Amino acid sequence: MTILFLNGPNLNLLGRREPAVYGKATLADIEQMVKKHASKLGVDVEFRQSNSEGELVSWIQEAPGKCAAIVLNAAAYTHTSVALRDAISAAGLPVIEIHLSNVHAREEFRQKSLIASVCKGQIAGFGPYSYILGLQAAVNINGPPD
Ligand code: DQA
Repeated sequence: MTILFLNGPNLNLLGRREPAVYGKATLADIEQMVKKHASKLGVDVEFRQSNSEGELVSWIQEAPGKCAAIVLNAAAYTHTSVALRDAISAAGLPVIEIHLSNVHAREEFRQKSLIASVCKGQIAGFGPYSYILGLQAAVNINGPPD
């Protein structure tokens, strides 16, 4: 089973970008942590980041048949992108929306997600641990283990 982690714009700056909001871990640190947990769970993880909306759309389009689920931190595109929403809807595979920060406790424009209604669920506010929770949600997408 492969779980695809997609990261949107400015997440390549993690570690030095507003550390009071997003923490000190870099995206590479988070990727390493996710891969460590994934190997314990016996699943493969592919981890990607793009600042380009179109590239994220293409990766979502290419995922069906290759990945069991997508864990998506769409970053700012969460709040703006009909294109990402439509790609998720068309892909027909489970997508889990994640955020490092609690978007619901921040500016009003961050409290609206254009992708939430086509995602399986949303995880927000746990810092890098949101990624581990996203991984666990993806692995247990068909219900918790017996
Ligand atoms: C974010 C929250 C978004 O509002 C913001 O644009 C980001 C990061 C998060 O992980 O907390 O870039 O998705």
